Amino acid sequence: MILSAFQDPLGQLPPPASTFAADVDGLFYFCFWVSVASFLLIAGLLIYSAIAHRRKHPDQGPISNFSHNTMLEVVWTLVPTVILMVIFAWGWKGNLDQSIAPANALQYRVQGQKWAWNFWHPGSLTPVAEMWVPINTPVKITTDSKDVLHSFYIPAFRCKRDVLPGRYQIVWFEATQLGDFPIFCSEYCGDGHSQMGSMVHVVTQEEYDERPWDIRPEDPVKWGEQLFQANCATCHLPTAATLIGPGMENLYGREEEMSDGSKVVVDDEYILESIRYPQKRIVKGYEGQIMTAFGEALLPDQPDPGEEHSHISALIEYIKSLKKE
Ligand code: CUA
Repeated sequence: MILSAFQDPLGQLPPPASTFAADVDGLFYFCFWVSVASFLLIAGLLIYSAIAHRRKHPDQGPISNFSHNTMLEVVWTLVPTVILMVIFAWGWKGNLDQSIAPANALQYRVQGQKWAWNFWHPGSLTPVAEMWVPINTPVKITTDSKDVLHSFYIPAFRCKRDVLPGRYQIVWFEATQLGDFPIFCSEYCGDGHSQMGSMVHVVTQEEYDERPWDIRPEDPVKWGEQLFQANCATCHLPTAATLIGPGMENLYGREEEMSDGSKVVVDDEYILESIRYPQKRIVKGYEGQIMTAFGEALLPDQPDPGEEHSHISALIEYIKSLKKE
């Protein structure tokens, strides 16, 4: 294919490791060689003219009175126009390709903050500092920022997207090489910008199935606390105080009055329902508050194979541990 002629002949780019690399590198080297050719042509003509048409003796008058050359002007307008249209079409198509992830892509979430990246792996509720992906599998990333503008950049994958507060930006890639590849922030975001790096580990499907990012504490209370801090702590305190939703201290086993006047004892079943379908039965006084519904998919109430606790049972153990008497 025409692209292979452009495969990094001068070694200016990191080794390609995703399906985007051929296209991006091709466009890069197309621009590069057009620039080299334009420079040589323009500088060459300039130097030639300066020498060939210089004044030969001090009192030499003008030897021609050309004001323009229509043919020449048409050529130097049309040729660059065609070249720029090629660059535009190539770049635009590449941008569209990188914006629209395949429907079967694995779903990740990435959040930027000053100055770190947080990665949520598919089905995972606790963020981790590095990313693991299986080889030859499309990966879709929904990004947002906790504070200022950042930019998510994996040079080896030719993958980059600005990360904005208050807006979800999509980016995707399909890794084609096993190994560890650096992730950078490529938008100046303050003091720690240059330290805002991480790593993406491309592993085989077998290694991926082991969930290498998923380091759960043995103690379900500790795991539950991690889950609580990552998912609930924006609205709920581990003390008795109300933040937005009710505080968790002494909650387990307490009898609560619901908005319809009925009475409910807070047990495993009510906690599970409140996480999945929070609007179903609301404690009196909290009718106006809207909580994220976690639904069935994100929080399996059965443990993973080989595990003793599920997300739900770990959270319940943590809430039970907040009993102070
Ligand atoms: Cu974040 Cu630079």
